[in-house]
Amino acid sequence: MTQLIPMISQGEIRTEVKKTGQQISLHYRDKNLVLVGILKGSFVFLADLTREITIDHEIDLIGVSSYSGTSSTGTIKLTKKPDLDLEGKDILLVEDIVDTGNTLSAIKAYIESLHPASVKICTLINKHERRQADIDADYACFSLEKGFIVGYGLDYNELYRNLPAIFDLKL
Ligand code: IMP
Ligand code: MG
Repeated sequence: MTQLIPMISQGEIRTEVKKTGQQISLHYRDKNLVLVGILKGSFVFLADLTREITIDHEIDLIGVSSYSGTSSTGTIKLTKKPDLDLEGKDILLVEDIVDTGNTLSAIKAYIESLHPASVKICTLINKHERRQADIDADYACFSLEKGFIVGYGLDYNELYRNLPAIFDLKL
């Protein structure tokens, strides 16, 4: 039987997202910030984060699908390119969770090829145990050693993205 065990509450998420938004607002106050959300998992986090950022910024979305089964390989297929011209802009990639880091490392390389002024990473969850790529988040709301979590945009086979808080999934 599938079990969903409460792990991070709505209140805890709100507090950390607000803090991260404040840090970003401070660090990027003299920059040309563009938040680039990675579909689909980041959509809930992106929607809350943008509203906690008090400086002017643009928003774009990028879509990728990983070619692998249970864990990503770093071979990604771009399913949606950014719409904006990112040249000379300060890009903050917004991701739901960094696991092996392979997806983000491939996306970062792609974004860098578009000649932005800078590229940094903001993730809701930084999951450490399975990290393979030499990559780390510049901003992370929460740290997790291991496990599989769902809710607040994070899915298991496309389900549970709608849950307002984060749960540990036990199959
Ligand atoms: P990476 O390339 O291994 O870092 O893969 C990151 C992607 O795997 C995330 O964007 C998620 O879509 C997915 N993922 C990794 N861990 C979890 C999890 O615990 N819950 C839900 N999705 C996850
Ligand atoms: Mg994802």
